[in-house]
Amino acid sequence: MTIVAAPWERAARGAGLLRPDESLAPTIFAEFSALATAHGALNLGQGFPDDEPPEQVRDAASAAIASGGNQYPPGRGIPLLRQAIADHQRRFYGLDVDPDREVIVTAGATEALAATLLAFCEPGDEVVVFEPYYDSYAAVVALARARLVTVPLQSPHFEPDLDALAAAVNDRTRLILVNTPHNPTGAVFGRGVLETVVALAHRHDALVVTDEVYEHLVYDGAHVPVSALPGATERTITISSGGKTFNATGWKIGWVVAPPHLTDAVLAIKQYLTYAGGTPFQHGIARGLTLPDEHFDALRRDLAERRDLLSAALTAAGFDVSPAPAGYFLVADAARLGVQDGDAYARQLLREQGVAAIPVNALVSEAGRARYSSLLRFAFCKSRTVLEQAAERLSSARPGNA
Ligand SMILES: Cc1ncc(COP(=O)(O)O)c(C=O)c1O
Repeated sequence: MTIVAAPWERAARGAGLLRPDESLAPTIFAEFSALATAHGALNLGQGFPDDEPPEQVRDAASAAIASGGNQYPPGRGIPLLRQAIADHQRRFYGLDVDPDREVIVTAGATEALAATLLAFCEPGDEVVVFEPYYDSYAAVVALARARLVTVPLQSPHFEPDLDALAAAVNDRTRLILVNTPHNPTGAVFGRGVLETVVALAHRHDALVVTDEVYEHLVYDGAHVPVSALPGATERTITISSGGKTFNATGWKIGWVVAPPHLTDAVLAIKQYLTYAGGTPFQHGIARGLTLPDEHFDALRRDLAERRDLLSAALTAAGFDVSPAPAGYFLVADAARLGVQDGDAYARQLLREQGVAAIPVNALVSEAGRARYSSLLRFAFCKSRTVLEQAAERLSSARPGNA
């Protein structure tokens, strides 16, 4: 029997997310992780760290399991975590947030994104995103029957072209979805870019959704939260997650911070997606958010070193590597190695060299594929041993497909 998830299939076909012969395609990350396991390859594809959450964070989750924290949490999240999120916004950005009315805990940033897109988009509304983008964006825009409008970021620095951005936003734009620090490029959008986003949102009465899951992983420069900009708070929905900051991607604890009328709308959808979940993990992330500055500083120092290690290895192997001032990933251009088809080359590297990386053209719209076709995304959030082994394997990579 063929299983057809009709609404998804209709939406995904319309958005070019499925090939004609597919009714269900795994995400590119799931596909490459499965391939990496099958071929015994080092997985520099999917963005999860090899490190464990800090001991205090694990202990807080374990203690919650041992002491009755195992039932449904409140739909908005446990008060302890909502307070910790509000305190975090004040501590790091000087923002005032009401933990009872302006915070919602979600099943990772992924659910926050889905609930937000479904809450605010009517069929046909436009959602403006920078391209390449985290893969769930196109999928949830399609599920909301909205239209994805992409603004390309140019290699090697991936800085937004503000004229192109202004041209993309109009009165049909419902949301401008910004991801800073950015996956997959590691770019950090500066104040000027974000002020332009906010000004355009005002001009066209759009909302700004900002995905800041890498907020604590900035190595060069500083993270500017959109909601800290003048005039932004009233129309900004901030999304983040404990996954990257506390090496706990499998816990799927994320959050939304926004004014009450916006969080209420997100909650209206979220309560019918998961309702609520992860009570003990909510306790763990609440503890994480109260860790001293040294945790956040050490995480950054350590990841910056790993970035440099992998960047040197990729450069030595003949790739042109983009600077990654933030995040988990390096984008490496294989054009000088003769690569035109990054997807085929990523599969070749995985089979022949035993190193998994994600072709960047899997993270773009159909129209954008050609622009990014020789780029691969490599994760450096892996152990030093894995990165050193990857360096060794990459050093014998043969030139790519033509
Ligand atoms: C930009 C971006 N947004 C959202 C997510 C998903 O976050 P979570 O695991 O908390 O759902 C990721 C995960 O890689 C990401 O890179």
